[in-house]
Amino acid sequence: MPIHLSCSILIRRNVHSWSLDSYQGNSSFSGGGFIPGRLQNKVIIVTGGGSGIGRASALCFAEEGAKVVIGDVDIKGGEETVRMIKSSGHEAMFVKCDVSVIEDAKNMVDRTTEKYGRLDCAFNNAGIEGVNAPVADYPNEIWDKAIGVNLIGVYHCMKYEIEQMLKTGGGSIVNNASILGLVGFPQASAYVAAKHGVLGLTKTAALEYATKGIRVNAVCPGFIKTPMLERGGITTNPELMRYVTELHPMKRMGRPEEIAESVIWLFTEASSFVTGISLLVDGGYVAQ
Ligand SMILES: NC(=O)c1ccc[n+]([C@@H]2O[C@H](COP(=O)([O-])OP(=O)(O)OC[C@H]3O[C@@H](n4cnc5c(N)ncnc54)[C@H](O)[C@@H]3O)[C@@H](O)[C@H]2O)c1
Repeated sequence: MPIHLSCSILIRRNVHSWSLDSYQGNSSFSGGGFIPGRLQNKVIIVTGGGSGIGRASALCFAEEGAKVVIGDVDIKGGEETVRMIKSSGHEAMFVKCDVSVIEDAKNMVDRTTEKYGRLDCAFNNAGIEGVNAPVADYPNEIWDKAIGVNLIGVYHCMKYEIEQMLKTGGGSIVNNASILGLVGFPQASAYVAAKHGVLGLTKTAALEYATKGIRVNAVCPGFIKTPMLERGGITTNPELMRYVTELHPMKRMGRPEEIAESVIWLFTEASSFVTGISLLVDGGYVAQ
């Protein structure tokens, strides 16, 4: 039996902190010959690929045979993800990109096609948390920034990704929304409004390009253990951590690679009749 350490096996093994160095990827040579990964040779953009869900996803996509373009405003984080991918013999490139700046989004897609000749898939994942404050007290400039990155940034990226995908006959786009794209959450109005907006944008683009070979979907993660939650003080405060964990019927937080797996499904032909969905990956949070 060939060695096959895919993302799903990593999930079953409950691997929290991992790198490609630690295992042999899916697209590999074994006794039975070459085993293509599920994303073999696909060219994929991952925004916010320098940390958390974006980094874990980029590592999984590369393991599945993709050429990955990391777009991130954080140069250090983005370059580190590329280093991790390359050190395992896979292909990746970093492009500095602030998704809230439209020229940056265009440049990211241009650089991708200059280097790899095409764009097959995009995971529009870059996001920021904003601050905790009720609507009347929410600082205006942070509201604008949260909407600018979390909603307008997704629009900027989609605009140029779709333009490029139309040239080659199609592609698959996945936007990272949140459970908070479907339900409210006190003290997080800008984030919640942006994520609801991402789902509306996703559905509309899905309708517009349904006959043009481009599928557009969203994933809606529950609380996932990443630096975003660390900054929010959740993962560093045991009481808060218990509270947030208890909000999920599965009584745990999600892991970044569990989101990556759902995105891989949406990128492949396994989901060929799926467009416009908001895929909950939330341990049952929204079912309550
Ligand atoms: N962690 C969670 O619980 C959770 C739950 C649901 C949805 N999400 C969403 O998942 C996505 C990733 O979040 P994460 O938890 O991995 O956070 P993270 O902070 O670990 O990673 C976010 C990445 O986005 C990058 N980024 C921020 N602003 C950017 C900009 N303007 N342009 C380009 N890149 C930018 C950061 O540099 C970072 O690398 C976000 O959209 C977030 O809203 C997270």
